[in-house]
Amino acid sequence: MSWIKEGELNLLEKISASILKAGPMPKHVAFIMDGNRRFARRKNMERQEGHMQGFDKLAETLRWCKHLNIQEVTVYAFSIENFKRTKDEVEGLMELAKQKFERLLEERENLEKHGVCIRVLGDLNLLPLDLQRLIAKAVLATRAHNKCFLNVCFAYTSRYEMTNAVREMAWGVEQGLIQASDVSEALLSQCLYSNNSPNPDLLIRTSGEVRLSDFLLWQTSHTCLVFQSVLWPEYSFWNLCEAILQYQVNHKSIQNARDVHREHQKLLQLEADRTCALSAEHLQRHGNGKPADAGRRQEALSHYVARRQERVRHFLEALTTKRDSFFTDLCDGGL
Ligand code: FPP
Ligand code: MG
Repeated sequence: MSWIKEGELNLLEKISASILKAGPMPKHVAFIMDGNRRFARRKNMERQEGHMQGFDKLAETLRWCKHLNIQEVTVYAFSIENFKRTKDEVEGLMELAKQKFERLLEERENLEKHGVCIRVLGDLNLLPLDLQRLIAKAVLATRAHNKCFLNVCFAYTSRYEMTNAVREMAWGVEQGLIQASDVSEALLSQCLYSNNSPNPDLLIRTSGEVRLSDFLLWQTSHTCLVFQSVLWPEYSFWNLCEAILQYQVNHKSIQNARDVHREHQKLLQLEADRTCALSAEHLQRHGNGKPADAGRRQEALSHYVARRQERVRHFLEALTTKRDSFFTDLCDGGL
């Protein structure tokens, strides 16, 4: 099965989609695709067949999302915790991923036609080298596409991602690119694997488990969480509509919480900038020895903010270069 499933919605689905689209629609939906093995067990199938049908369901779900104007989807395809499963199952999942990323490279033209950008979020170093190279090729081949985005979390957990982001900032301080006082919630967000994406509006977990299992913990504080009992390979268009309806019911309160948080962050940043800019040391360095009147304090603040923004911009550029060269080096290594 290919990543892109062509085909229109049937009449009933089309009517339901247009009714849903009259309300606020999530732009970014995340899925914890859970229940593949239970599905396989119930159907007396091999476990691997359950995961294969799980991939097919992903392709089908992406088609529904496209018809519902959902531009971005993030999926939990392989958690770092999944390495603790039997050797046989881990190898099966790695093999499935290899096949699918090879397929993705064969489908390049179709992905370009649909404008699909594929990103892989996680620590690729934890994966077999041939899979790392395939992923790097797939990511580089689709990186310029910008109509819709699929983020595949692979060798991912949220705590690992956050720890990595903190390490990146420590690296920036060590390199003299940023100062410890530049560390902020906004900067940490920009150091996450998910830095290129807005936070998900809706997160769906299938299979009846009601926990996040270390998935997008940072990104989902203002996200509508929907837990559905259906096993992932049996997920239907109607399950997705039901989850979107729950998002619509909660949309206003989520939006309000986001607005309040954004305003609070602005205030915190201003407060932090003021403290740094008006520190005796900063005023001394940028003043002329006269007492700091209101005008000079304002000038010191503007000067400090401009310098901080410049430092952060340089640091983020260096980080992007470091990440890009990881992918290009992998590709240059050949297969
Ligand atoms: C959770 O079900 C599912 C997984 C750990 C794997 C999900 C992977 C896919 C759907 C394939 C995606 C592949 C690519 C390349 C994108 P489970 O195994 O935990 O099942 P259970 O909850 O019934 O035990
Ligand atoms: Mg599970």
